Amino acid sequence: MSKARSVFRCTECGAEQPKWAGRCDACGTWNTLVEEAVGRTGARAGKASDASARPPVRLAAVGSGALARWPTGLNEFDFVLGGGIVPGSVVLVGGEPGIGKSTLLLQCATRLEHAGVATLYVSGEESPEQIRMRADRLADDAGLVHVLGETRLEAIMHHAAALKARVVFVDSIQTTYTDELEGAPGNVGQVRECAARLMRFAKEAGPAVVLVGHVTKGGGIAGPRTLEHIVDTVLYFEGEATLDHRILRAVKNRFGSVDEIGVFRMTGQGLEPVPDPAAAFLAGRHTGVAGSAVTALMEGTRPMLVEVQALAAKAGFGTPQRVATGLDQRRLAVLLAVLERRGGLAVSGLDVFVNVTGGVRLLEPSTDLAVVAALVSSVHDRPVPADALFLGEVGLGGEVRPVAGVERRLAEAGRQGFRRVFLSARSRVAPDGLDVVGLEGIGELARRLAA
Ligand code: TYD
Ligand code: MG
Repeated sequence: MSKARSVFRCTECGAEQPKWAGRCDACGTWNTLVEEAVGRTGARAGKASDASARPPVRLAAVGSGALARWPTGLNEFDFVLGGGIVPGSVVLVGGEPGIGKSTLLLQCATRLEHAGVATLYVSGEESPEQIRMRADRLADDAGLVHVLGETRLEAIMHHAAALKARVVFVDSIQTTYTDELEGAPGNVGQVRECAARLMRFAKEAGPAVVLVGHVTKGGGIAGPRTLEHIVDTVLYFEGEATLDHRILRAVKNRFGSVDEIGVFRMTGQGLEPVPDPAAAFLAGRHTGVAGSAVTALMEGTRPMLVEVQALAAKAGFGTPQRVATGLDQRRLAVLLAVLERRGGLAVSGLDVFVNVTGGVRLLEPSTDLAVVAALVSSVHDRPVPADALFLGEVGLGGEVRPVAGVERRLAEAGRQGFRRVFLSARSRVAPDGLDVVGLEGIGELARRLAA
């Protein structure tokens, strides 16, 4: 007989501890330990049968068919995965509620059915009627997709096997529970156990499993974070719910490269892959306005052009405001200090607002120079040339540093009609059709933009 015991698990890092504490020993986060009942029943608590284990085989005898893929035909989704869904793999699609995860996966299921790949779409959050209402909005006819309103793991696996589904969508892992474990659906233990069992199901029976995981703005309770180690591929679906663009980002991929992104637009008929993602975020840009500068990001292997906007205005009473959207607040503070001390621009008394358009987030330091250029332009109230691109990291000494992957970024800028590029004087590049303005430091940038 197995006796139920309980452990405490960190919702942030998944570490297990025998006693409750205010702070997780493993990752140091406060108030994240939750009690979890560990009471196994039935077969798995008994002695494991050694004979049931699969015998070892020579590597040469193992087929390499594992890398066959099922493309969904939703181009951007396939691209992020590395060409399509790999049979037997488990993919986690995380994102905030309302961002479009269910829509994306219903569209995938639809496309796969049309391509002759049997699917099962399981929802523990919506009834088949509600799913039908969503389906009716979509451009594609989702009528062929099998849907199942179920939260019990054993039933889900039973139906998936009976239907011989080759791709099983589970929406969401937080609503799924197994009989083998005590504890409510959504608690870390249930979430991890269900994911682990679906992983085993995928590896043994061969279907691919796509899991939806909700994350909240703060990182989430029983969040997909604790699942990242278990699954093969982790995709995050991001964007501002109020803006049209949605970005699907691979943060882990056993069968493809990480950091690739796919870009979609949420329309009245579901999600549409954006045909030219590199140019998508510049669409609708007003040129000739002060405080705007364009840079090129590398998202995985793809360059993307984005616009940084800055507005500097005389502050009213008290401490000047500094608001950054799409950019780390602290990075903005650093760049403002460098601009004041090394660029000779008086910004300390100004309210400063910086915004990256299209809901994009600047995560690379290579975008520093564009932020600085936008700030300088706003302070002087002079637009930067509309055909100029800014590429460079800015150091604390005000020096402009070269960035990686510069050739690809410049090729994309050239394709989109940019004619000059401001970058580090130490970058040795001679791009076709682009004038290069080499900068030693940001003081030089400020002078050139003022001239
Ligand atoms: P949903 O897929 O339910 O999000 P999630 O599963 O991540 O919680 O999508 C939610 C939003 O998308 C909802 O606010 C409505 C909007 N939407 C559209 O704008 N167009 C559409 O065609 C569909 C199906 C949804
Ligand atoms: Mg949903």
